[in-house]
Amino acid sequence: MHRALRGMKDSLPNDSTLWQSLEGSAIDIFHKYGYREIRTPILEEKDLFVKSIGGETDIVTKEMFSFLDRGERDVVLRPEGTAPIVRAYLEANLHKIEPFQKFYYIGPMFRAERPQAGRLRQFHQIGAEVIGSHSPAVDAEIILLLSSILDKTGIRDYKIKLNNLGCHNDKIRLSKILKEYFLDKKSILCEDCNNRMDKNPMRILDCKKDGCRNITKGALKSADFLCDGCKNHFSGVKEYLKKTPAGIKCSEDPYIVRGLDYYTSTVFEVSHPALGAQDAVGAGGRYDNLVKDMGGPSIGAVGFALGIERMLIASAKDCGVLTGLYPPIEVYIATIGEASRKEAFRILNELRSEGIVSDINYEGASLKSQMRDANKLKARFTLIMGDDELGKSEVVLKNMRNTEQHTIPFDNLIAKIKEKLKTYSL
Ligand code: HAM
Repeated sequence: MHRALRGMKDSLPNDSTLWQSLEGSAIDIFHKYGYREIRTPILEEKDLFVKSIGGETDIVTKEMFSFLDRGERDVVLRPEGTAPIVRAYLEANLHKIEPFQKFYYIGPMFRAERPQAGRLRQFHQIGAEVIGSHSPAVDAEIILLLSSILDKTGIRDYKIKLNNLGCHNDKIRLSKILKEYFLDKKSILCEDCNNRMDKNPMRILDCKKDGCRNITKGALKSADFLCDGCKNHFSGVKEYLKKTPAGIKCSEDPYIVRGLDYYTSTVFEVSHPALGAQDAVGAGGRYDNLVKDMGGPSIGAVGFALGIERMLIASAKDCGVLTGLYPPIEVYIATIGEASRKEAFRILNELRSEGIVSDINYEGASLKSQMRDANKLKARFTLIMGDDELGKSEVVLKNMRNTEQHTIPFDNLIAKIKEKLKTYSL
């Protein structure tokens, strides 16, 4: 028997109803905020991520599913959505047509991490990217949008932590300060953090190991690395956030540094207690240099991504289960005999083309078992048809809520069913 690959999961119909409900809620909110969907390919050039996320990051060095395609090109399964969207934006010349764009996306991402609860190798993100603005109001809108999606999906117990990484030059200044601070503490830091010392000392602040955490506590006490422009921008973001509906749960945390190199200025992470060690349900921030670094104009950008699997864990904790989206069956057709099944098939398709949610059993099961099916599906009506009924060109329509039944002739059957559905609207 074949099995799904490690860290990759099927979404069976019972799960899918939750996924659709969650995605539907998010899409609804995106549309209300004026965001439009963008879909990019799952396979991209490896170099796109090396240049954007950063060649020394964990994602690029350890986690990408990469291979040579048939044309010997270095390709990867996309580990995230931001870089592909900037690529698509530039490739379609959107910066020349209408530079300010608000995108949303939903889809699978791939990272070869060690699987555990809430951490998969194929996972799914719901995300948004605003390209073409440096305004702090857009940072606030993105954070509000993310929190509206969490609220709408019944996730309540989350916390948003905010930080200001500063611009490119500020990040260089901070890296220098950190390098000096950690220099005489090398022997106490873990092996990964020792490697980070030269390549990206900011990532040491993000280390989850207790030993490193104890040392990093003092690292930022007197770190003054932000330029005035970045300080002002961040104050602006906070002012705008104050104008958002009461209850937006934001707090500042200087240790939020993020694992992707493209971030500058505002960054944020959303945690939820149901997620344990993998506690980020979502994250994001500004990436004001990425569009220019990828060959476009110098324009600001900001976005976020939420992990769907982690949202489902969080919402199960906060509100039990999400309600599904599948509409209940309105008419179930039970047939006796092959001839009546053929006629029933015609009626079924007529019902469906009239928008009436209907179903049938094709297997020639006994009437008793078909009635059991109808009950299981919580059908509102069952339309029963055997050779007798076929001979008289009529059907029996049974109301499954009160067991009342009526014989109805074929003529005008659909209109009669519609009438009954209206009369007995739940
Ligand atoms: P990220 O923090 O790498 O950011 O991922 C965002 C979210 O994706 C995480 O908070 C988590 O919920 C989910 N996630 C990440 N890795 C896994 C995994 N292995 N298994 C399950 N869920 C996972 C980004 O991807 C950025 N592109 C976000 C962004 C958009 N920044 C600006 N715009």
